Amino acid sequence: MLSRIIKSTYHLILYAIFLALLLSLDLVLTTLNIVLPSRVPARGGSRYRSPIVPYSFSPSKPPLFSVMPVVHLLCRVAKAVGSERGAGPDWLKQWTTWQGIGSNGNWGAPIPPTPLDSRSPCPGLNALATNGILPPDGRDITFSQMAAAVSRAYNISPTLATQLTLPLLPLFAGRKAIDLEDVCAHGVIEHDGSLLRPDVFSAEHRRDPQALTHPHQALIDRLFPDITLRLDTPIREQLLPADFSKALTERRLECYKKSGQYYDGIFNKLVGSGGCALMFEVMGGDVARLREWSGSMDQAGSGISFSGEEPHGFERMPSGYWQPCSQGALGLTIVEAQLRMLQIELACGSTDSARIIRRNMRGHLVSTSSASTT
Ligand code: HEM
Repeated sequence: MLSRIIKSTYHLILYAIFLALLLSLDLVLTTLNIVLPSRVPARGGSRYRSPIVPYSFSPSKPPLFSVMPVVHLLCRVAKAVGSERGAGPDWLKQWTTWQGIGSNGNWGAPIPPTPLDSRSPCPGLNALATNGILPPDGRDITFSQMAAAVSRAYNISPTLATQLTLPLLPLFAGRKAIDLEDVCAHGVIEHDGSLLRPDVFSAEHRRDPQALTHPHQALIDRLFPDITLRLDTPIREQLLPADFSKALTERRLECYKKSGQYYDGIFNKLVGSGGCALMFEVMGGDVARLREWSGSMDQAGSGISFSGEEPHGFERMPSGYWQPCSQGALGLTIVEAQLRMLQIELACGSTDSARIIRRNMRGHLVSTSSASTT
């Protein structure tokens, strides 16, 4: 028993030290982002200035020192330890290898998932698998592989990419790699009141146990209405942070009313607004692009997957020329993402009205049941 307590305390202290180091490094990167010139879109880029999504590199073909000094040095170390032959730690291999998909603004042809492929509740990760940046079958993904892919493709700083992946650490216990569906573990990151997926305890999820792993067309249509449909009500082509706050408030109230098991602790709320902050910072507010990326079915008939009982879309990187909106020299940092998250969360309305309705409903149910028993 005592040895267990000592072991847990030791791990807790290690974790706290790691987080403190990560945040300190992130503060440095945030400051550098302010003083260094932003990355340039691929079209205007040159070999000597890093495009938003880097060109391909590997230990035997490192990027120029003047463009990516840290990666250049890491590539040299990786070559020396034989990382390309499978020697050395996995993190060194993953952070020194990049295929360069998307560096010229073209993300290649999407590979629709088959029923055997694994997908997560996260559009950001699923789109990377569809476009071959993560394994298209969504399986056997290591911690560093996930963090490095997210960092390179979306121009997210290594500190933020690590922080996003860190909550998954318990899932890696006893194994080196996970499948994307493992990310569905409820309460780890997956939570109630999501904008783009039904809740785990909802009737919809009971009807379709795979509902978390594929896009939900009705929720996409609500959040990102099709601007090509000439509807009576005017539709916004660009969303702002305030639109995400409004959508989160409505969705939380809706889920609260629908399920007695709905739980919206502060951590859950921040994960929800954090997802919106990432989406806004990386993808921007362009509704048409967001529809495509989040897996809508209606892009010229493409993006339809028949893997489930009903056809549904699949997440994919935007077609045509596209570059991430996060253009900081060192990528979007934890501080930058959290400021956006706070802006979105603080503008959200409270769910108190739903609490009152639920309490009144309970009162009504109790009074009717006691009336029927007397
Ligand atoms: C390693 C990195 C990442 C991990 C482990 C991760 C994990 C997750 C998980 C588990 C969810 C489900 C949460 C829920 O229940 O709603 C989620 C949702 C989401 N993620 Fe990620 N994610 C990562 C990176 C990203 C990136 C880079 C973006 C944006 C470019 C992104 C955007 C989103 C969005 C928009 C949602 C949906 C939120 C909602 O439906 O309310 N994620 N992510």
